[in-house]
Amino acid sequence: MVLNSAHRGARSLAPENTLAAIRKGRAVGAHLWETDISVSRDGRLVLFHDDTLDRTTDALSRFPGRASYALSDFTLAELKQLDAGSWFIQSDPFGQIAAGTISDEEIQGFAGIRIPTLEEGLAFTVQEAWPVNLEIKRLVGRAVGFPVVAESLTVIKKSGINPHDVRFSSFDHRLLDEIKTKAPEYAIQALIGEIGSPINNWGTLAYDTYNANQSLSTPDEIRAIVAQGKTVNLYTVNDPHRMRAFIEAGATTLITDFPQVLKMVLDER
Ligand code: G3P
Ligand code: MG
Repeated sequence: MVLNSAHRGARSLAPENTLAAIRKGRAVGAHLWETDISVSRDGRLVLFHDDTLDRTTDALSRFPGRASYALSDFTLAELKQLDAGSWFIQSDPFGQIAAGTISDEEIQGFAGIRIPTLEEGLAFTVQEAWPVNLEIKRLVGRAVGFPVVAESLTVIKKSGINPHDVRFSSFDHRLLDEIKTKAPEYAIQALIGEIGSPINNWGTLAYDTYNANQSLSTPDEIRAIVAQGKTVNLYTVNDPHRMRAFIEAGATTLITDFPQVLKMVLDER
């Protein structure tokens, strides 16, 4: 069975990496969700993708004149004051408001929505017994050197989540090696094909599972890697034709901004 993973939650239907997007991913039938772990100035783990706050929050107007808008320069208390949803209403990044696929009531709920902590995201996934792919972002700025693996494991263990419902991924494979040593009960997935990279670098195929960039790949390449006994997941597959082609090629999970579309593709089968 191919798994449908809601990228940053269902980010075409709600502001990415918010509880609204997470809930929406569940509601439209994703088998799991993907999210990004970042580190605040005071060492708290939050679900946030970008290194800086400007694209998806009101940090510039809420905290004018700051020397830096890097997430790692804001404390959790400051991050919790930010509106992480109004940008979605204003920019309609995937055209889904214009298309009428999001109700007025849902849209109203996006305004003022907060950046969730890892604890808050996990509480939903525990309650629903719904698996999660936790991507640990590369540490940048003030966060460099922070013990993000140890801290993530502490939070995850405290959440009560079933280890089978967690898979870790990262472009920084050293973090995955650390997880493998400290907590082998959690699955790890090696992310490859980071922005700026011309190819998916499979290296020596040292990991059992790879999460590869679909835009740098072809179904034939995936077929060849799967034939070598590897599990391959692909991000971010939004086009139904590409979805079908990668499913045929033997992909295990498709990470998509449109879990509602992938659900239809999988239901055809
Ligand atoms: O985990 C897949 C994907 O999320 C990796 O890229 O930049 O969207 O976090 P990015
Ligand atoms: Mg990610």
